[in-house]
Order: sequence, then C-alpha cells, then structure tokens
Amino acid sequence: MSPYIKKSVLAMQGYTPGEQPTDPQVIKLNTNESPYPPSPAVQKALQSLKVETLRLYPDPVSLALRRKIAELHGGTPDNVFIGNGSDETLALCSRAFVEDNGAIGYFEPSYSLYPVLAQIRTVTARPVALGPDFAWAMPADYQASLFFMTTPNAPTGIQYPKTAIRAFCARFPGVIVLDEAYVDFAREHCMDLAMECDNVLVLRTLSKSYALAGLRLGYVVGAAPLIESLFKIKDSYNVDRITQATALAALSDQAHMRALVARIKATRRQTIADLEQMGFRVFPSETNFLWVKPPRISAADLYRHLREQNILVRYFPGPRTQDYLRITIGTDEQMQALVKAARVLVKAG
Ligand SMILES: Cc1ncc(COP(=O)(O)O)c(C=O)c1O
Repeated sequence: MSPYIKKSVLAMQGYTPGEQPTDPQVIKLNTNESPYPPSPAVQKALQSLKVETLRLYPDPVSLALRRKIAELHGGTPDNVFIGNGSDETLALCSRAFVEDNGAIGYFEPSYSLYPVLAQIRTVTARPVALGPDFAWAMPADYQASLFFMTTPNAPTGIQYPKTAIRAFCARFPGVIVLDEAYVDFAREHCMDLAMECDNVLVLRTLSKSYALAGLRLGYVVGAAPLIESLFKIKDSYNVDRITQATALAALSDQAHMRALVARIKATRRQTIADLEQMGFRVFPSETNFLWVKPPRISAADLYRHLREQNILVRYFPGPRTQDYLRITIGTDEQMQALVKAARVLVKAG
C-alpha cells in the first residue's frame, strides 16, 4: 500500500462503469447507449472541422452551445453550464454546493456514481431508501446540502410525479440536482423548476437520446448564481473544440433526436409485451431501459446465461437490486434475440 495516497482514496472503491466489450458480435444492452447513430449533422460538422484550428484552445465557456441550449429551454446563456459529460457536472456540483461538514443525498437504489462523489469529497452520504417496489417516501426530517435526484430514476426506470418533485424542491433547504439523463424518453420533464426555483438545477446529457455517449457532453440549467459557481471551479478548457462543434450540430437537429426516441419507445413497448407474456415482472419504464424480474430463474443466473450467449445486460448485486436485471432497449432485432434467448432460459429454469 503506497504511503503517498490519501487515506480516504485508499479506502474507496471508485465508480465501476458498465463493461465495454471489444467483440462486435456482442449484443450490448448494458450501458443505456443508443443502438442508432447520431444525427447526420454530426458527421457533417466533423467533416467540416478544420484540423488546423486544433492548435488553438477551445472557447473556455462554450458560448455558442449555451446560446443554443438557452434557445431550446428558455432563459439566457447565464443559466447554462456545459460539462465534459454530465458526470463532470455532477462532480462539480458536489464541490460547489457542499461544505466539508455537509451531506450529499440520493435515492437508494439510484445512479451509483453519487455515493462515490460523496466519498471523493469525504462528506456524509445520506441515501434515501426507496420503499417496496421502489416507491419514493422521504423521511420527514430529512436534510442534506445537496440532493441528486435521478428523474426518471435509474436503474428502475420509474418516474415520480412532477407534483411530488415540485413539493420536495419547495421545502428542501439545499440544492437539488434533477438528473434528467433519460427524460427525453419520459412523459414529462422538470426544466421549468430550474427556471422557477433558485435552488434547483436540471441536468441533461447527449449520451442517451442524442446517441452521443462517445462525445462526452452534458449540461446544467438553473439560476445564474449557481451556474456561475460551476464556472469558477471547472477545468480551464473542460469541453474541447471538436465536442463543442459536434454537440451544437446535434442539438440543432431536434427532429433526429425525436425520431430516435420514438423508435426506441416503440421497441420498448414491444419488448415489455414479450417479456410480460413470458412471466417477467417489468416495471413501468420512462427511459431507454427496462428494470425486470425474471420468473423461475434468478436474475444472476439469467445474466450469466445471457452473457454466455453474447448478450450483455446489467446486473447489480446488492440487497435492493440482486433480483432484477436492467436491460437497455436496443434495435428490434437485438431485442428479439434477447427475448428468444430468455424464453429458452426461463423455460429451463
Ligand atoms: C442517471 C445518470 N446520470 C448521468 C449519467 C452520465 O451521463 P454522461 O454520459 O453525460 O456522463 C448516467 C449514465 O449512465 C446516468 O445513468
């Protein structure tokens, strides 16, 4: 054990991202990426990018992108922060809004990066255990400096009603980050809360509905003072030139994003029907993935057997999640392959 490393860093595990297999034969339904390519405008933007310009630093404040995002959601560029993926913006929030004796809250289960961010900051993690069937009930005297609320939630895919979220934001004493990574696949969003409340930030990513997980672009919308504080603590040039140009192209093609979402939602409907017909319990999904409990076979065994057949889904061990699998919605063909394999495995028990 090296004597040079902080004790808190030695003690922590770090975040474990989903596996990225190199074999192209693998049907990859484990990290909620899009099975479809991004807008053709992204390809065009890449082709028209002059390599010569890469000798210059990028715009440190991504102004063109912030203008575009303000145009999409309302507000002004002062209400928008751009990050190197929404993961970076989550980390910056954990640094900007939590004193050293503060606490970070989040649902349990939820996005597994949040507790890691609390560990990095060496502040208290204050998870809120979800109830039976992952229903949300907040302890009456709950307090934290910052609450990360994934909405719709992951890995469950469930969206809590906006009325409940609004009421929570109105009484919570700290900053609430509404992590809307999957919201384009949902019924409703909470962007208006970011505009109305001085303690609410809404976070979005281009990784899911825009099919650009490889690009690394996330953004935050909210009150100007909170946004300004994120700018103060970010890396000097946190979003590179290529990403700024291509993300602008993607955000300018809303029709493409909506078409991808519609396709994925249609496949989601069919996959839910197929799995339910087999006896799976499928939670109502407002995302590009399903949270399911298989019949007659344990989730761990089904995960392992699917993997042997080159179908990769996500399994989270642990008391709250071990009975379930999270399955990303892929193409129709990929989902048919999954359903076919699962049918045989479930029958065999
Ligand atoms: C709830 C949630 N928030 C944020 C992210 C990270 O997104 P990004 O790719 O923008 O860093 C993910 C990725 O899976 C996620 O599930």
